[in-house]
Amino acid sequence: MQTHEIRDRFTNHFVTAGHTAVASASLLLDDPTLLFVNAGMVPFKPYFLGQQNPPFDNGTATSIQKCVRTLDIEEVGVTTRHNTFFQMAGNFSFGAYFKEGAITHAWALLTNPVDQGGYGLDPERLWVTVYLDDDEAAEIWEKKIGVPAERIQRMGMEDNYWSMGVPGPAGPCSEIYYDRGPEYGEEGGPAVDDGRYLEIWNLVFMQYERGASDSEDDYPILGELPKKNIDTGMGVERVACILQGVDNVYETDLLRPVIEAAEKVTGTTYGASEEGDVRFRVIADHARTSMMLILDGVTPGNEGRGYILRRLLRRMIRSARLLGATGATVETFISTIMDTMTPSFPEIIDNRERILRVALNEEKAFLKTLESGTKLFDETAAAVKNSGKSVVGGHEAFELHDTYGFPIDLTLEMAAEAGLEVDMAQFDAEMQQQRDRAKADSKAKKHGHTDETVYREWVDAHPTEFIGYNELTAEATVLGLVADGASVTSAPAGTDVEVILDATPMYAESGGQLGDRGRLVAGDTVLEVADVQKIGKKIWVHKATVIAGGVELGMKVNAEVDENWRHGARQAHTATHLIHGALRQVLGPTAVQAGSLNRPGYLRFDFNYTEQLSPDQLDEIALITNQAVDTDWSVNTIETTLDEAKAMGATALFGETYADDVRVVEIGGPFSIELCGGTHVDTSAQIGPVAVLGETSVGSGARRIEAYSGLDAFKYYSKEAALASGLASNMKAKTEELPGRIAQLTDRLKAAEKEIQNLHRQQLTAQTGQLLERAETVGDVRLLMVKLDGVAAGDLRTVATDLRGRLKGETAVIVLASDVDGKVPFVVGATQAAVDKGIKSGDLVKLFGEYVGGRGGGKPDMAQGSGNDVAGVEAGFSAVRDRVANS
Ligand code: ALA
Repeated sequence: MQTHEIRDRFTNHFVTAGHTAVASASLLLDDPTLLFVNAGMVPFKPYFLGQQNPPFDNGTATSIQKCVRTLDIEEVGVTTRHNTFFQMAGNFSFGAYFKEGAITHAWALLTNPVDQGGYGLDPERLWVTVYLDDDEAAEIWEKKIGVPAERIQRMGMEDNYWSMGVPGPAGPCSEIYYDRGPEYGEEGGPAVDDGRYLEIWNLVFMQYERGASDSEDDYPILGELPKKNIDTGMGVERVACILQGVDNVYETDLLRPVIEAAEKVTGTTYGASEEGDVRFRVIADHARTSMMLILDGVTPGNEGRGYILRRLLRRMIRSARLLGATGATVETFISTIMDTMTPSFPEIIDNRERILRVALNEEKAFLKTLESGTKLFDETAAAVKNSGKSVVGGHEAFELHDTYGFPIDLTLEMAAEAGLEVDMAQFDAEMQQQRDRAKADSKAKKHGHTDETVYREWVDAHPTEFIGYNELTAEATVLGLVADGASVTSAPAGTDVEVILDATPMYAESGGQLGDRGRLVAGDTVLEVADVQKIGKKIWVHKATVIAGGVELGMKVNAEVDENWRHGARQAHTATHLIHGALRQVLGPTAVQAGSLNRPGYLRFDFNYTEQLSPDQLDEIALITNQAVDTDWSVNTIETTLDEAKAMGATALFGETYADDVRVVEIGGPFSIELCGGTHVDTSAQIGPVAVLGETSVGSGARRIEAYSGLDAFKYYSKEAALASGLASNMKAKTEELPGRIAQLTDRLKAAEKEIQNLHRQQLTAQTGQLLERAETVGDVRLLMVKLDGVAAGDLRTVATDLRGRLKGETAVIVLASDVDGKVPFVVGATQAAVDKGIKSGDLVKLFGEYVGGRGGGKPDMAQGSGNDVAGVEAGFSAVRDRVANS
């Protein structure tokens, strides 16, 4: 029976039984806990959890869900049953039928004769498992279905309790196994041999919600789901394997044609050796998973889903080469799998070209990688062996990954084949360092995707010529276009595209200076350039939006830098050098540059220095900087060698690597000599004013100065001046009198506040006498409980102390509470006689606190606390009254 028919029979069986057929969700369903959909129930999660009502008649549904599981990628082809992509056929009940319904449905479909719509499996060959204490399920299997007790096995949490591996719905399950016969392994049921007994269907009795845990067989059950549900999953590929009488899931009607195609392109026969067969199966499995991932929108990359796709495609390509293929193979494999999958997934038809293009691009990139990387690997391996060692350094493995795009598993595989190991600890450490760097590197964010392989062909073959030191416009040819991380041949109006030119006047972000803004124009075609980034230090990528017309490869365009932008950028960059020079004069040469950023009108400069700068130091830096502007030094650029530059005393950025030929920017002789590729003004006066805004810490031993330059500095000062004169006119004073006047005002304000406080206290004290009248007698205790609104905690205590003094000779307890903007401060005081009687203020404060949502503590004679529920005050008073009455 063909796989497509197995699918159809499943759906028919359950639709006939009243289930709503639901189409498969995308593999990329948006569930933050999952990389890919990995089970049929994933799209139904909200219904299980009771977050949404299932929109199905009878509360039942059926689906055949595309699934990808890539955890055990190494198992592919080694065992008989691990597909990274598979189709999970399932029936779901949301509070409708439960264990008995699920078991009866599954059994009927598996064992009904083929001419009655079933799969016609021999009931004698079916075994089942249930969870340890699930007597209910065991009994249904035995009594209702008639499975003999010896073919019902009980298993623990690891096997017979199902969840998504993360917090969410969970429950005990019951699995159905098919005995493939003695030639596949030992007798004794699935508990003994899960190779011979192939699991084909899992029935999950989904009734609990599980919590978080690292363990698969030990996690907390948080509680019951609102309803008792059913989630089942039948492995379509596994049933196909049985019904088609083949050995493993790689030889079914859907994958076998790929194996046959691989035999042709590799010249090797399937079945000739176990090692070779594993490779054939890897090709078949990975071809299908890659194709289905691309169909759903994944493109190869270095992170997350993109990395998994890349890894699958590259493993497939390499497996073919290891079997003897020499040229390209991807087109054959991917076309073949598209043919076999199309009847079940007709959407492939409209996507054929795209799928093939994505896969072929990756093949092209990988073959280049393999060529250069394999050479490097062989050299490294030979060097390791020659030195009598057996471990390839982690640094070398990292370099293979970083420079040649060699995935680490490929290096590991190649090392194993050469009888070597890889220093993984070192590799991991370098990877971590790289991740940290990437985080700090805003460039990655600007590209939106960190994968730079798409640019590689231009990096090697067509480095961009930068002519923007002298020119602001240039005729250029479009050599490359990249959209959404893939190379394209044209881009229409209204789209974003990255443009690679043979030459450009536009500055690409580097050395702290942001990329230029500008336009690319050709006839009616206009592109607005919003950023320029450099890739591999060799090509300039213009990030542009097509405003009008369309752009295509080979087009001649006029590249124009936005002159205003460039003018501002030059001012800010030269100002950065001046601030650096001034800083070194004020703080000495230990204040080493740690980074900088400049764009039109604004700059910031980070440097290593452990102390905060004083206002005087900051003023001095600002003064020296503006004096340097005023001197109108000429700004000179010198092309020279790195050694010469160092001899001149040029400062360089620590940790940065420079080529042998460098560019030095010199201003005012020794005042400022820096290695720099940026664009600068011709003389320092062209910067205009520089307004230093201040200085802040940017973490571990580094500080930052920020400043405005040019017109923006003027605007900043003029705004500050307007602010000051506005204030002055409000206060009817001259601006220079402002500081004195404000100091005066604050002093008067403070004095007034103090006065108010005193008056307030006096008033309270005056009231204290009256308060006494509200004391009640509880047993032999005088109990005074009052709510005084708007009285702060300190004053409350003063009043309590005063009251206690007035009741000194008596057995008395005072409880005061207040309401200050929703907060409830409270105080309890007790006279000595009350304390002697065993009354403790601290205890009463705790008791009262329980009623006003607060806590407190203190001594037996005086305690206080604070709560936030004013509604509980009266109840708190009553509780205290009862407690005192019983004391
Ligand atoms: N959700 C169950 C499984 O994936 C059916 O095995």
